[in-house]
Amino acid sequence: MNNKTLAILKPDCVKKNLIGQVVNKIQDAGFKVNAMKMVKLTPDSAKGFYEVHKERPFFNDLIAYMTSGPCVPIALEKENAVEDFRKLIGSTDPTKAADGTIRKLFAESIQENIVHGSDSGENAAKEILHFFSRKELLEINGF
Ligand code: CMP
Repeated sequence: MNNKTLAILKPDCVKKNLIGQVVNKIQDAGFKVNAMKMVKLTPDSAKGFYEVHKERPFFNDLIAYMTSGPCVPIALEKENAVEDFRKLIGSTDPTKAADGTIRKLFAESIQENIVHGSDSGENAAKEILHFFSRKELLEINGF
């Protein structure tokens, strides 16, 4: 799958009232919103989502941050979605993100970095199904 990716507008994005501005940038870059909702992750759900990072020193802080308030997962569609979305958001560390990227514009730190983007087509498929059921995706968008 190379035409879909999962974005999460993280709790800092929601708290700073930036949902609209970030979604605008995403749509202006040519991404189509397939599905979108607001959720508050439970610790178990956040740990499952970020399982790949469970041995990292920042894991507990990451789970605390991602469960600190609501976030907005968005299933996105575009040709070359994963790579193009990662270019649009910029480096994980906002001090290293290119000018004009979403993280350069809005993010505070390597942890509170406004937005998540899938890192491969395979992970995008898994991550979309972390937040949206097959039934929901079918009902919303005819997947
Ligand atoms: P994300 O792209 O969602 O993938 C993993 C997340 O962990 C990352 O964004 C940051 O929010 C966080 N993260 C990654 N590296 C670090 C780090 N060195 N220190 C703290 N948090 C990090």
